[in-house]
Order: sequence, then structure tokens, then C-alpha cells
Amino acid sequence: MLVLDNRLLINEGRTRACYQHPGDKDLVVKVPVGNKKTDNRSNITELRGYQILMREQVDLFCISHCYGFVTTSLGKGLVCDCIRNDDGLISKTIWDIIVYQDDCDVDQIKKVTHDFCRFLTQRDTRLFDLNLKNIVLKLQKDGVYAPFAVDLKGRFDNKETIPVSSYSKYFARRKMVRRRRQLMERISFFREKREEWQ
Ligand SMILES: Nc1ncnc2c1ncn2[C@@H]1O[C@H](COP(=O)(O)OP(=O)(O)OP(=O)(O)O)[C@@H](O)[C@H]1O
Ligand SMILES: [Mg+2]
Repeated sequence: MLVLDNRLLINEGRTRACYQHPGDKDLVVKVPVGNKKTDNRSNITELRGYQILMREQVDLFCISHCYGFVTTSLGKGLVCDCIRNDDGLISKTIWDIIVYQDDCDVDQIKKVTHDFCRFLTQRDTRLFDLNLKNIVLKLQKDGVYAPFAVDLKGRFDNKETIPVSSYSKYFARRKMVRRRRQLMERISFFREKREEWQ
């Protein structure tokens, strides 16, 4: 059993906490949080989303790959790649950079995020949950950011009564274009209003 404690905590989302793997610096372990601690639904959804993605896309380098479940001191955990900067530090989400980092190149962040979304759309990679906290920016040696999707539940995040985007490439592309536009707007908006969100 893997023992997870607060020193290994990277960050928390709405349903899961993400820890460094105690035995491998290149991996993270995601466990359920809050009063739904025993509910592993998000992890199951993510692993399912990942498996479908892998069936469709062979060489997807810009995501955190998933490797299955382990038993931990905090319940069942999903093991995934840990995204790290070239200097070894764990990469931060777009949110953490634009809201908490005084000095950051917003234009570069918008450009690489825009290109990342366009790349996914052109390859019909269906990740509809691309928000500021589900993308991390890997800082490379040359100072350029490379975006990675770290939350792959979004395949099923259609918010549609009839999930047309899950079946139709055309609707999926349209949705991805809308998501990209929203992301661009949000990067500018939250950077401007960052003090209110710190
Ligand atoms: N592979 C990873 N490498 C580095 N950090 C990560 C990784 N996966 C997750 N994180 C960090 O942990 C946070 C929570 O992870 P994740 O988005 O998977 O949780 P969640 O509860 O499912 O999210 P949501 O609120 O979108 O439902 C992320 O916002 C990010 O800061
Ligand atoms: Mg998330």
C-alpha cells in the first residue's frame, strides 16, 4: 500500500487530490476528496476517457498518461504521469501561473494554449473539459511553455442532453473551437482580475 501524506500533496480539484507518487518522481496518484472520499467515480471516468483516447490517438504526447489503480492510505488512487518542467519542478496549471505569478508572459501563454487547442481539434481529440486548472504548462529550457492536459474526464463532459459531440466529429470540433475561445477569454479576464482571486 502507498502511504500518502500532506508533504506529497500537489494540488486539489473539486473531486480529487493529486499527490506525488512516494516511490517515483515521474508519477502522481489521484485520490477522491471531501465527503465523497469513497467515491472513485472521477478516477474511473478519467481512466475510461484515457483508454478511449488511446484507442483513437496513438502518439499523444501532450497529456498525462494513466497507468491504472493502486491502493493508498487515502483510498484507491489513479496513477498518472507527473508533468515536470525541464528544471525538475512540478509544472503549474495555467490558473496558478496567471493568478499567482506576478511576472508572467500572458501573450506567450495565450499563444501556446491556442496552438495546443488547435492541435487537439485538428486531430479530433475530444477533451471538452479544457479549463485553466486542467492544463499545466511545462516550462522548457528555452523559456517556452508546453501545455499538457492533466485531467482527461472531459471526454464525457458534454453538458448535452443528447451527447452529439461524443458521436459526431463535426459537433465535437465546433465544441472544441468554443472551448478554445472561452479559454482565451478567461486567461485575459483572470489575469486582469487576479487580485480578487488570490
Ligand atoms: N499529472 C499531473 N501533473 C502535475 N499536476 C497535476 C497532475 N494532475 C493533476 N495535477 C494537479 O492537481 C489538480 C487537481 O487534479 P484534477 O484536475 O485531476 O482533479 P479533479 O478534482 O478531477 O478536477 P476537477 O475540479 O476539474 O473535476 C490540478 O488542477 C493540477 O494542479
Ligand atoms: Mg480537474
